[in-house]
Amino acid sequence: MVLARQSMSAQPRYVALAAAVEYAIASGLLEVGTKLPAERELTAIFGLSRTTVGRAYADLEAAGWLDRQVGSGTFARRPRPRAGRIWLRDVLDGVAALQPDRPDAINLTSSRPFVPADELREALDASAEVVGSLAQAWQYAPQGLPHLRAMIAEHYAGRGLPTTPEQILVTTGAQQALDLVFALHVEAGDPVVVESPTYHGVLDMLRVHEARPVSLGTAPESPAERLRDLLVHVRPSIAYLMTSCNAVTGRVMSTKDQEDVAQLSLREHFPVVEDDIFAGLTFASAAALPPPMAAHAPGAPIFTVGSTSKLIWNGLRVGWLRAPASAMSQLARLKGASDLGTSMVAQLVAGQLLAHAPELAARRRDESAAAFRFAGGLLRAALPSWRWDEPEGARGMWIELPGDSPPAEAFVATARRHGVSLLAGPTFSSDGAHAHRFRLMPVHPEERIEEAVRRLTAAWREHVAAD
Ligand SMILES: Cc1ncc(COP(=O)(O)O)c(C=O)c1O
Repeated sequence: MVLARQSMSAQPRYVALAAAVEYAIASGLLEVGTKLPAERELTAIFGLSRTTVGRAYADLEAAGWLDRQVGSGTFARRPRPRAGRIWLRDVLDGVAALQPDRPDAINLTSSRPFVPADELREALDASAEVVGSLAQAWQYAPQGLPHLRAMIAEHYAGRGLPTTPEQILVTTGAQQALDLVFALHVEAGDPVVVESPTYHGVLDMLRVHEARPVSLGTAPESPAERLRDLLVHVRPSIAYLMTSCNAVTGRVMSTKDQEDVAQLSLREHFPVVEDDIFAGLTFASAAALPPPMAAHAPGAPIFTVGSTSKLIWNGLRVGWLRAPASAMSQLARLKGASDLGTSMVAQLVAGQLLAHAPELAARRRDESAAAFRFAGGLLRAALPSWRWDEPEGARGMWIELPGDSPPAEAFVATARRHGVSLLAGPTFSSDGAHAHRFRLMPVHPEERIEEAVRRLTAAWREHVAAD
């Protein structure tokens, strides 16, 4: 019997019995509608007292797991979700609770999740209406659902980069798009050019590919010239550049620099993967969405990566890759070999939400601008020796500590003891650069930021006193 396989060891026994029954129903071991043994029978099976069984059944009934019908028996059921219950909140709280090593820690290594809850619910409802017919029509579609590929292609065409739906691969986040491009171009030991600072997730990924990250240098006067030198002297197999906005510094690569790199890519047939996931989330893009780098050199081997993560929700796990037509069949094969395709349900939801991209982007820009203003004001007043350039978009502040203070890694450790998590500068570089920098993500409720700044002020006092 199913229940006999569940643990009954915890005390009190009626709680353990109720938990075992609940687990069996919730996990599907006991199907909804299954008739359960009568109290008397269960007492005999487990050698439990009648009171224990009676209490467990009463609790289960009250919680909605049992349907007791006088005269016909006790049946498994599932509780109805409580009215107004927002399950996403529970999920996010659960995730947040996993992170800190102190229960009251303030995690400034990432932003507060932005979940457009109403829009998400509407998108889920609209998706539910079509999912049945979709399931009749499709099993696997490794390249992605045609309507979503067409929408993304149109988005690029609208930004001055003519694109056919066949040039779009829907991926499981930008992360997978980057991984596929590296899988196509990188062999173990190959040098790969990255900015400094760069997205630390790419540094991890390059480790997995056993590639050798090579720094473009901190704020090079001309990224294209520096890249040309590296092509001659290091012979990298590809470069990864955050063109729409650097996720760490919040700086946008200038149009001139993007044009120069694109032309170099075209002339030298040198592959470049551009991370465009902050498209629309820079403050300047409120006026008009700038073209992606690939638009500056049609025909160049430039791979453009996008995502719903920064605009909508990282948990959706829908990203994409826009690639030269000649690379598509290989990329599609790699994608298929990797996971046979991204969840079609998630793609349906993404398609619904991307139709509202301009409004969602405006809200995200406003949210970032307000957070930069608020945190910036508090930090300038409390910690006047810290410096940073105003971000042009994205979500983070790239803070520089005075050069005569101990390195940021030590400060980050002190801040952690004071209950604030940050990421030190060298995390974002391939060569340990940025010793006096750290990244602070200020998009959180204002009272959290106020408390964080109080704690950082105390941590800073301790940090400089230890020098
Ligand atoms: C710059 C950058 N690129 C790519 C990614 C991965 O994005 P996704 O969630 O779409 O996989 C991230 C995630 O934080 C990022 O910051």
